[in-house]
Amino acid sequence: MTLLERLGIKVPVVQAGMGGGLSRHELAAAVSEAGGLGTIAVNGAAAIERELREARKLTGRPVAVNLLLPFARRGWFEAAASADAVATFWGKPRRRTPGIWLHQCGSVAEARAAHAAGADAAIVQGVEAGGHVRGETPALELLEQVRVALPPEFPLLLAGGIAESGDVRDALDAGAVAAVAGTRFLLSEESRAHPGYARRLLDAEETVLTELFGAGWPAPHRVVPNAATVHWLGDDPRGPRLSRILNRLSAPGARFMPASAQLRLARAQRPGSRLLTPMGPTDDGPDSLVDAGPLYAGRTVARINEIQPAAELVSALAG
Ligand SMILES: Cc1cc2nc3c(=O)[nH]c(=O)nc-3n(C[C@H](O)[C@H](O)[C@H](O)COP(=O)(O)O)c2cc1C
Repeated sequence: MTLLERLGIKVPVVQAGMGGGLSRHELAAAVSEAGGLGTIAVNGAAAIERELREARKLTGRPVAVNLLLPFARRGWFEAAASADAVATFWGKPRRRTPGIWLHQCGSVAEARAAHAAGADAAIVQGVEAGGHVRGETPALELLEQVRVALPPEFPLLLAGGIAESGDVRDALDAGAVAAVAGTRFLLSEESRAHPGYARRLLDAEETVLTELFGAGWPAPHRVVPNAATVHWLGDDPRGPRLSRILNRLSAPGARFMPASAQLRLARAQRPGSRLLTPMGPTDDGPDSLVDAGPLYAGRTVARINEIQPAAELVSALAG
């Protein structure tokens, strides 16, 4: 049985989990109902349970949950176990879910580790991807390297650079079983991106790979420039050295910070704040994050000019 058959999806299109509530049940269910695999990405066991319940009301098709390993606690995995698949990211891959498990990887070594840990598939992420970026290699190049390094029956998916049907075809031709798109689905009607964030992305031509919004999670991420990046990024796109040091120092505590405290921090955040959190602007979050928060987007943003219903995007991507 192929991975797509095991997942029960009709077309080789996966919507990437987009954290902090950017991809919730509305988007995941719309993608899944259209025959792809939709992914919920929220923080906390109660939120995961709620979003899965709401998604199940909208579709009888399979739905995935995304978990970030630096933050996900045992209860989150327990709540996610009732999803049809769990996609993890960032950190040492370890099987923590009984069902279908996908791990997103940024290198050959990481993909090997995911395979050795018993993952059902690896998502190979290229450097052009939006959000947090694990790898340093263009997606198709990395896919080629991982394909030869791992047994041919181990399924690989490709993330980064997927916005049109030609991109999906290229990924499949290069040996992927499915393509994973984040930014394209962020600009859909069902996404929970703040309208101001979506507008900035529709107008954007370029992105920057930075570590600026790294308070609590010092990891590279790709964003569209805004007032905060203009304020802080000079010659070094990673951001000022002092900010990067403070980001690293703040990391151990962030895992245990309650959601209410994180929201208070995000509300107080201004473009000139020394510590900038990774919380992206959602439609129910502070408006100020459009200028003071990370406008996560992949390089495909330059090719995306309209917001469309997610179901139409699935059909268009599947060609
Ligand atoms: C807004 C946004 C948020 C993201 N958040 C997450 C996340 O929470 N977990 C995760 O595994 N990947 C996350 N990613 C990365 C995606 O899994 C994927 O690698 C990326 O979207 C692929 O590149 P693309 O955005 O150009 O399609 C995010 C990407 C974007 C654009």
